[in-house]
Amino acid sequence: MTDQLTAPPTVEASPASWWRNAVIYQIYPRSFADSNGDGIGDLPGILTRLPYLRDLGVDAVWLSPFYASPQADAGYDVSDYRTVDPIFGTVTDAEKLIAGAHEHGLRVIVDLVPNHSSDQHDWFKRALAEGPGSPFRDRYHFRPGKGENGELPPNDWPSIFGGPAWTRVEDGEWYLHLFAAEQPDFNWEHPAVRDEFKTILRFWLDLGVDGFRVDVAHGLVKEDGLPDVGEHAEWHLLGVGESPCFDRDGVHEIYREWRKILDEYPGERIAVAEAWAPNLARVADYVRADELHQAFNFSYLGTAWDAAAQRRMIDESLAAMRQVGAPTTWTLSNHDVVRHTNRLLQTGEGEVAGRRPTAVDPVAGLRRARAASALMLALPGSAYLYQGEELGLPEVVDLPPEVRQDPAFHRATGQDGYRDGCRVPIPWSGDTAPYGFGPDGGDSWLPQPASWAQLSVAAQTGVPDSTLELYRTALAVRRGNPALAPTDNLRWVPAPDGVLVFERAVEGQPVFRCTVNMSDRPVAVGRPGELLLSSGSLEGTPVDVVLPPDTTAWWSV
Ligand code: GLC
Ligand code: CA
Repeated sequence: MTDQLTAPPTVEASPASWWRNAVIYQIYPRSFADSNGDGIGDLPGILTRLPYLRDLGVDAVWLSPFYASPQADAGYDVSDYRTVDPIFGTVTDAEKLIAGAHEHGLRVIVDLVPNHSSDQHDWFKRALAEGPGSPFRDRYHFRPGKGENGELPPNDWPSIFGGPAWTRVEDGEWYLHLFAAEQPDFNWEHPAVRDEFKTILRFWLDLGVDGFRVDVAHGLVKEDGLPDVGEHAEWHLLGVGESPCFDRDGVHEIYREWRKILDEYPGERIAVAEAWAPNLARVADYVRADELHQAFNFSYLGTAWDAAAQRRMIDESLAAMRQVGAPTTWTLSNHDVVRHTNRLLQTGEGEVAGRRPTAVDPVAGLRRARAASALMLALPGSAYLYQGEELGLPEVVDLPPEVRQDPAFHRATGQDGYRDGCRVPIPWSGDTAPYGFGPDGGDSWLPQPASWAQLSVAAQTGVPDSTLELYRTALAVRRGNPALAPTDNLRWVPAPDGVLVFERAVEGQPVFRCTVNMSDRPVAVGRPGELLLSSGSLEGTPVDVVLPPDTTAWWSV
């Protein structure tokens, strides 16, 4: 590491379009590694853990927001887009982290939050201070209220976090916030907003980042006149059905402009959309050739652990992205949903999509999660991992209400509110909390379960059947196997009910085969070839291998 960082080093250019089949690891900075013992993870902490990420075998990291923020929504409420919040470090720390990551062969994607700012952003503070008629009010959505004295919100939109999407200020006007009241929505019809974000993009690109994860990418443009949703009150973040505040055609113009900026920089800088659109075809619109590079595949994330449903979703995902020439992405966990160690065993309305965590048998949950991860990492395209899934961390379902920090937790009607259970700081080593997350005797902003001593990085390293070693093997095979490089070469092989078998081939190379048993009975799969990996122990004989339930195996045929 040098102190002179004038020319940001770039990682070696990979053959073509590094991102198309990249494995991208989401770091949730406050819960990854704490360098100074204040209980909150930080950028210098991440810097010290880069060798771990290199050895894990991921291609890139995505960092959730570390910008200046009052932390009303864990940093998704940004008060200054060009600086680092002191709890996470400084801009110099960010530069060191980017340079350090590049030295370790890792690319860096940062979060960008364009739908809303913090209510402590300068523009919003001026909008409030200057009162009705202030030009700064036009950069947000300020409106008079309805009712005789303007005492009713301007329309019927609910906030994603519960309650109305409008808050009234002292002078009587209301402002729009699709999320918490501390997160006022920008007015993207205003040229100053558009210009501001172009310069924010350049600020971080100049600093050397390899891309952006675009928060609420489907929300920036609202329907003209902000019409009531009326009978469609069921619309929400998941993008079920048409909504006047999500997935409007006008957002695409913004991304076309951003793409031009990204393309000005060397080394294929990318953007990935968090776009909860009603269907995969609408998601694909965000990744047309002149727009963003990737979009999260939440349809896949929300699919139940059922062979027919999974196969259908895999086919639909590949087909939708094929239409626009974009790679498919796959993800099972992130900082907003119940960890897939729990989620895939949960059944019932809303649970598969990951909203409400419930306790599950941890052994069964882990077995299924490992099978699912091995399936996901065998699929063509790009995969997103969430910190701690490589340790098989369960969702923490019993956090006491007084430690919870999800802003939606106390809003009973909120759709989210249970997101702390997947955000508990991860265990690195040792027998007592904070398990190497921070210095001995240090704190952790959410309490870690005692059982996590056995799940730490140190406890799993070198243990052949540990989840960490499963991920390491999977990522090494994925990187080294030519059949796993193309982004659209999946071919299904006939299989019994409840079982998925597919192959991936490239000319002149051994064929890769993935076999997944999603049924509740053991299934014989013969001996397709050389075993590359299995998510659980196999049974049967050397010539007729039996996959136990919830087990995935990779073969070289
Ligand atoms: C996205 C983020 C989530 C945040 C919300 C508001 O959905 O992933 O964590 O609360 O946007 O910014
Ligand atoms: Ca810290």
